[in-house]
Amino acid sequence: MPKAFVTRRIPEPGLAILREVAEVKVWEEELPPPREVLLKEVADCDALVPLLTDRVDGELLDRAPHLKVVANYAVGYDNIDVPACTARGVLVTNTPGVLTETTADLAFALILATARRLVEADKFLRAGKWKTWGPMLLLGQDVYGATLGLVGLGRIGAAVARRARGFNMKILYYSRHRQEALEKELGVEYVSFDELLRRSDFISIHVPLTAETRHLFNAEAFAKMKPTAVLVNTARGPIVDEAALYAALKTGRIAAAGLDVMDPEPPRPDNPLLTLDNAILLPHIGSASIATRTRMATMAAENAAAVLRGELPPNLVNPEAWEKRRR
Ligand code: NAP
Ligand code: GLV
Ligand code: GLV
Repeated sequence: MPKAFVTRRIPEPGLAILREVAEVKVWEEELPPPREVLLKEVADCDALVPLLTDRVDGELLDRAPHLKVVANYAVGYDNIDVPACTARGVLVTNTPGVLTETTADLAFALILATARRLVEADKFLRAGKWKTWGPMLLLGQDVYGATLGLVGLGRIGAAVARRARGFNMKILYYSRHRQEALEKELGVEYVSFDELLRRSDFISIHVPLTAETRHLFNAEAFAKMKPTAVLVNTARGPIVDEAALYAALKTGRIAAAGLDVMDPEPPRPDNPLLTLDNAILLPHIGSASIATRTRMATMAAENAAAVLRGELPPNLVNPEAWEKRRR
């Protein structure tokens, strides 16, 4: 029977699918398997189900001569060196779609929570500082009717746009390709990155982490934003230059930030963002609903199982590797 290694305990329905086609080993600890363990485990592995915390690169692949598929338990796959997999005919799959609405809900929650200073207000009350209703107490910004700039109009970006319509927001977007059908459907306006920075009251990031998007939000970008602007990042931490973000938040260059993702994760204890009241920081919980994590587990497992059965997996990232395997 083929062997599969799952780098953390994922919801049971996913493991059940894998057990039908493979001898399954699960890393049971809370923390990711140490690098040496991962390199050892893949030595006789046919399928690997990693998390976004596990780096899959050429070194690992060279230790895994039987590996046929890397079925990431995430939609983002910046933890995987895809060209290195393709070069070795290893199929890479991800979990698109099933987590779109759950992650869009969290992005919108961060938009509302940063605008209305929810975390700060809760801390204020619990600290016993609430004396009376105050005309000037904890004033924030309106979301309803404001201008939202979406960076990336893929699955999650579009789902955030649908929510924003209910808040009567003016919606701008910048993405690699124009989406004319979506522009009509959602009433969104395509603008350059610079124009998005200048015009938006809220900016929400929905691009993958790539060489092009790393530090897309740097000091130069913050300098173009409104002093009242709010930045929300539910994509990947390194898309934002955190040192530049800290400086922008500290000096009032922008008003607030809501981050579900950081660089690195978790943040170091001396990360200065931890000291700011105008930053809301979450431990990468974008897809963290019970239903969605279960769907991610079955999707990742079905992808791995398909490959072990010799079939084309439903969510293949590198079709070139499939061609290579068939040759
Ligand atoms: P998606 O459907 O692939 O959307 C990504 C969008 O970004 C696409 O429209 C893509 O354009 C655009 N894009 C790619 N590179 C770009 C660039 N260099 N400049 C401008 N636009 C670019 O992906 P998704 O499902 O919405 O997920 C987006 C990301 O969210 C994932 O990659 C992941 O990192 C992150 N995520 C985080 C959480 C969380 O827990 N916080 C949960 C789920 C996802 P094209 O159409 O031209 O490719
Ligand atoms: C893990 O898959 C995550 O959504 O953070
Ligand atoms: C989570 O961050 C994912 O990419 O699924």
